[in-house]
Amino acid sequence: MERRNFLRSFLTFLGSLTLVSFVYPAARFLYPTKQNDLADKVVLHKKDVAPGSSLNITLDNKPVIVVHRRNQGFIALSRVCTHLGCLVRYDRGEDRIICPCHAAQFNLEGNVISGPAPRPLERIPLQVKSEKIYIG
Ligand code: FES
Repeated sequence: MERRNFLRSFLTFLGSLTLVSFVYPAARFLYPTKQNDLADKVVLHKKDVAPGSSLNITLDNKPVIVVHRRNQGFIALSRVCTHLGCLVRYDRGEDRIICPCHAAQFNLEGNVISGPAPRPLERIPLQVKSEKIYIG
């Protein structure tokens, strides 16, 4: 192989490599791979949360409470109180969510009933499919 042909082939190879290094990331950005929507979720079994009870979990390092409301199904809410950030808990006797710091109270939809909390608790997406609960 002549030196000129070798250099031409080598430069063509480098040009192709450079082109691919720009086109491939752009294509991945425009056409991302499909991921399983349920892959990044916390999965519970329905029997893990009996009616009228709750379960505290962590989702992406965020504290979350899952409540099995009587006759209303499951709901997932952030446990971080919207007043000053204390962690709320489910009060089974009162059937509501209570903040132990300054006594804010929330209904089982996460809405403020009383106390200093300015906003409802953040609602976390939740899906129930057959016997499993997908949270996140
Ligand atoms: S932090 Fe919850 S009521 Fe103040």
